[in-house]
Amino acid sequence: MLEDLTISDIHSLGKSQALEILTQITRVEKKTFPASEAFPFGEELWRKKPNTRVIYVTRTSQGIQPLIAYALYVRQKGVAFLHKVCVAEPFRRKGVGVQLLKYLRTRLQKEGCQYVHLWVDKAREPARSLYMQSGFEEHEELLDYYSLGRTGIKMILDLQRVS
Ligand SMILES: CC(C)(COP(=O)(O)OP(=O)(O)OC[C@H]1O[C@@H](n2cnc3c(N)ncnc32)[C@H](O)[C@@H]1OP(=O)(O)O)[C@@H](O)C(=O)NCCC(=O)NCCS
Repeated sequence: MLEDLTISDIHSLGKSQALEILTQITRVEKKTFPASEAFPFGEELWRKKPNTRVIYVTRTSQGIQPLIAYALYVRQKGVAFLHKVCVAEPFRRKGVGVQLLKYLRTRLQKEGCQYVHLWVDKAREPARSLYMQSGFEEHEELLDYYSLGRTGIKMILDLQRVS
């Protein structure tokens, strides 16, 4: 279990640190996802887009390098759409994903959000299992959602039902 984690929003950082985090995220994003699914983590995410939130995870004792994990969600009234959750490969299976989801849950509850929605590739077993463990329920399956032969599953977390 990795402890000593700082989990925060890039908006809590000054410009140069926020851009450094976004650069590290872009690197991990390219390594992890196929080009068609890699999200462009550009500077505009820090400058504007108040509904879009980028959360990053680092080690408290080590400053902003290396990046351990990140998440991105978009808030629309009572619903947060969780588009990305990613733990950099060397830090997986150490409880970081669970801690990141817990942070998101608590933060969104405090902000008065009611539901978290996401789509996950059916073949991404680790992610599905993390989401189930964090209280999400599977609601709908869509064939060829990501590309031919890749099924998407819609999952929903009811923030009023989890502690
Ligand atoms: C999915 C992901 C975020 C999990 O992060 P993590 O920090 O490794 O997860 P944790 O160590 O907190 O594990 C939490 C639970 O997730 C599940 N899990 C994590 N890795 C797993 C694996 N390789 N196989 C099966 N289940 C796994 C388990 O249920 C685990 O609980 P357990 O340790 O009690 O068995 C990480 O594997 C990842 O970034 N994958 C690539 C990106 C991705 O698929 N993102 C989701 C779609 S956007």
